[in-house]
Amino acid sequence: PGQARMALRGDILYFLRDPGWSEDATGAVRFEPDGWLLIEQGRVHAVRPADEPPDASWARQDWRGHLVMPGFIDTHVHAPQLDVIASFGAALLDWLERYTFPAEARYADPELSQLGAERFLQALLAHGTTSALVFATVHKTSSEALFAVGQRLGMRLITGKVLMDSNCPADLRDDVVQAEQDCIDLIERWHGVDRLAYAVTPRFAATSSAAQLTMAGGLLQRYAQRAGGLYMQTHVAENCDEVRWIAELFPDSRSYLDVYDRRGLLTRRSILAHGIWLDDTDRQRMAQTGSSIAFSPSSNLFLGSGLFDWAKAEAAGVSVAPASDVGGGTSLCQLRTLADGYKVLALQGQRMTAWQGLYAATRGAARALDLEHEIGHFAPGTAADVVVWRWAEGAVQQRRQDMARSLHERLFAWMLLADERNVAATYVLGQLRYRPG
Ligand code: GUN
Ligand code: ZN
Repeated sequence: PGQARMALRGDILYFLRDPGWSEDATGAVRFEPDGWLLIEQGRVHAVRPADEPPDASWARQDWRGHLVMPGFIDTHVHAPQLDVIASFGAALLDWLERYTFPAEARYADPELSQLGAERFLQALLAHGTTSALVFATVHKTSSEALFAVGQRLGMRLITGKVLMDSNCPADLRDDVVQAEQDCIDLIERWHGVDRLAYAVTPRFAATSSAAQLTMAGGLLQRYAQRAGGLYMQTHVAENCDEVRWIAELFPDSRSYLDVYDRRGLLTRRSILAHGIWLDDTDRQRMAQTGSSIAFSPSSNLFLGSGLFDWAKAEAAGVSVAPASDVGGGTSLCQLRTLADGYKVLALQGQRMTAWQGLYAATRGAARALDLEHEIGHFAPGTAADVVVWRWAEGAVQQRRQDMARSLHERLFAWMLLADERNVAATYVLGQLRYRPG
């Protein structure tokens, strides 16, 4: 893939480890202003300072004056929901009924699924995201299309057919036996192929019967040894009405999270979106099982769901990674997710540094996905999934950058003010996959 040897010149930034919540990130971050990112056969070879330029065997790409970072990782996003992003006037349960379910029903059509997958993955790249954990729809064809396009683009992509056999429109309903067979077909065809992996995807406890959740847990068990194991993605404790409904549907469970826990759905590779209304016992179970929360501030604000308390999750040892949750969220751009995240946390007296935010959307997310060996930073041998950003787009951003006195101040202002319009180029495995215009 790509040229055999390529050297990107720019302001290179990535994380060596979790910087924590301090403004001092010494030892956790590497910044090489006007440095060199050496890429060989689609993998990172080295990062070098400005005064160690590579020899003539490296083809140069000049991004001087640009910020060069690992591509962002989105740990929770719905491909078909680009069709209903920014829909007016609803909270979670009526938003699903009014907008989301009708939109997803259209993806029974393979051609529409194919076009949707192309549009969605190109949009991710255009927004600076190179890897994602993605909800398809209940239709096998929608997840098939995402895998096929993701494979062609060389992306690290994790997705799966949505499981839903209860409390939903008839044209979106599967059943336990057919759903299991569809999952097995998709797993056998795609899991561990190139950079693709399968995620068992019960939509949420309300739309799966107990029998279907048990089947989902069985799949995780059955394939636990295949390519590091399957992923599990779902939603949990997002909205108060939803939480009450789950308690009615599953009266024997201690909590919403416990509905999943009892069926073996909490693993090291389980990512649960939201988790706003979890309690201490839930957080302990997540920490014990190594499962992670996809923090979706844009969605949580837009749907009026509530404020996620990151400090509590952190204190319990639960890993947290940011997610757009489009179309509940209103942007695919992880910088906008982080800007919303900062404000959600600020309302609770928590202050997310640029270090913590940018770490969480790159290496931290990679870690939550059990992929720290492959993505999210620039250690030698990792995939060269790289985004080149303009430090400033427009006079306001430029002025703020000019006034910044420290690297943290500069990055924080960038994190809050920049968006997808700042993307100058996106590379996947060292291949240029997106340039604006
Ligand atoms: N809970 C169940 N389905 C969904 C969905 O599509 N989006 C969000 N945000 N929450 C959900
Ligand atoms: Zn979601």
